[in-house]
Amino acid sequence: MAAFTELVFSGVQPTGNLHLGNYLGAVKRFVEMQARDAQCLYCVVDMHAITVWQDPEALRGQIREVTAAFLASGIDPTRSIVFNQSQVPQHAELAWVFNCVARLGWLNRMTQFKEKAGKDRENASIGLYDYPVLMAADILAYRATHVPVGEDQKQHLELTRDIAQKFNTDFSGSIAAHGHGEAFFPITEPLIGGPAARVMSLRDGTKKMSKSDPSDNARINLTDEADTIAQKIRRAKTDPEPLPSEVAGLKERPEADNLVGIYAALAGITREDVLRDFGGAQFSTFKPALADLAVTSLAPIAGEMRRLTADPGHIDAVLADGSTRAEAIAAQTLDAVKDIVGFVRRGPSLQAVR
Ligand code: TRP
Repeated sequence: MAAFTELVFSGVQPTGNLHLGNYLGAVKRFVEMQARDAQCLYCVVDMHAITVWQDPEALRGQIREVTAAFLASGIDPTRSIVFNQSQVPQHAELAWVFNCVARLGWLNRMTQFKEKAGKDRENASIGLYDYPVLMAADILAYRATHVPVGEDQKQHLELTRDIAQKFNTDFSGSIAAHGHGEAFFPITEPLIGGPAARVMSLRDGTKKMSKSDPSDNARINLTDEADTIAQKIRRAKTDPEPLPSEVAGLKERPEADNLVGIYAALAGITREDVLRDFGGAQFSTFKPALADLAVTSLAPIAGEMRRLTADPGHIDAVLADGSTRAEAIAAQTLDAVKDIVGFVRRGPSLQAVR
């Protein structure tokens, strides 16, 4: 553990088909983080999933499917820690402490809650309202320094920083008295960006690519077969102009911007690089190139996911091993948190001494 200079944490909800937006905005970046001098933890956040009702059998399948997507995309479960949230009780435990640190006013400002709760707020679960506090607990149970997330999670990361800050000041005397120096929780750095921080619908470049879009042609699912991927790209909405040679020319052209962004993210290059090669080209030239790139990058992942999900026992063993390793870290944090807030405990937790 101590050999790493950074600790990376991120989570994905097991709430339905993963699509290109989840892959480029999250999973592909998780894979890239493994090359850094960092311990990486990647969590299937099943406790976040149940903030809206999930069919139990479907949920179990989706937890395994997200795990399979992690592995198929190149997350190495011996180097990174791959696990599901509900197997590590410290997430819920720390969330309770943070419930007592976070303020109502802070949560009232969360835009994602307002969007997800919609008009019928009175009928939203308390879990949905408290979602960002559990997310802060996910991150800070490992005292993570870096969190790769999509653009839409920015506000939740700011809340995590506010909670860490307030805990550090509210308990500063006790933190010092227990030998933790000036601050116990790090002020986590969000890692947002890259060409595909926001992947948009293939049918409407002003809307996010979403698992709940009624048109399946609006998204590329990670489980799509090669010809489906190619067909969806061929049918993607575009405008009649050729591609510009400068990024500035993509302004006001949401569909063109989105396809160029997808190309850049898949190829691991910038939008500028893409336009250097394709500036002036018609979509009849660009789309087949994008389709080829998408098929060569994504079809092998779909194949590997099918192979992995055929053996749920193996996936469950990966999650069990990851959860044990995650708990060994989180238990140390919780022991310290309990000392800092003034609880009486039995001694070092079983996990922390392992
Ligand atoms: N809220 C995140 C999302 O919907 C998922 C998530 C839960 C997460 N806990 C996290 C992401 C901790 C990063 C770190 O995408």
